[in-house]
Amino acid sequence: MESSSSSKTYIVEHLDPELGPWSTLEYAAIAHESAAAGSKFILSSVPESLKLPSTLQSLPSLHLDHRGVEEIYSNDKSRVCLLDPAAGEELSPHDVETFDVFLFGGILGDDPPRDRTSELRKKGFTGRRLGPVQMTTDTAVRVTRCVIHEQIPLDKIPYIDHPELVINKHESTQMPFRYIRDEKGKPVMPRGMMELIKKDSEKGFQDLL
Ligand SMILES: C[S@@+](CC[C@H](N)C(=O)[O-])C[C@H]1O[C@@H](n2cnc3c(N)ncnc32)[C@H](O)[C@@H]1O
Repeated sequence: MESSSSSKTYIVEHLDPELGPWSTLEYAAIAHESAAAGSKFILSSVPESLKLPSTLQSLPSLHLDHRGVEEIYSNDKSRVCLLDPAAGEELSPHDVETFDVFLFGGILGDDPPRDRTSELRKKGFTGRRLGPVQMTTDTAVRVTRCVIHEQIPLDKIPYIDHPELVINKHESTQMPFRYIRDEKGKPVMPRGMMELIKKDSEKGFQDLL
């Protein structure tokens, strides 16, 4: 198998029972960014019964697979790296030689983290950590791409932890995740995510009235 960074596959194993607007924006961002970097993106383990949102159906760069990752890579598990917040070793630029496939849990983040990545850990893939702070799935893929594709060590990537997002002039909300920090000091998020967070927060606020 090749070890060049452009031949890598990113696979998100969808583990939530539903696929709501947050996951849709995250998966669309992963699909666009993977295509731009020349890598393949597979969304696996999507039940046949789950109707994919139209935004995702129309994305040619998203390879949908109803099978689980174990079945897809049953012949060569050793080239698959599970990005695992509980792994003993951090992902490093040298891992470009060791792995061809990078596997992530398609799980919405939770606070405190419930360690649902353990569902994939049980399958026996080699794990690597991306530092001690929980990231959103799209951030975890973005950070992995920086390390593997751009060969930037984990500790040289600019981050922003637990950013405070302004919802309106009365309210703000703190996100319990680590993000990549952009040149303006803002967290890098999927297109449309800020609007969705504002909408969800205002809805929550309205429910209290
Ligand atoms: C939102 S996180 C889910 C974390 C979580 N609360 C859990 O239950 O495991 C989604 C995925 O991103 C990846 N991920 C997020 N933060 C990570 C970290 N610090 N190190 C390694 N992988 C991470 C993992 O693949 C994880 O399954």
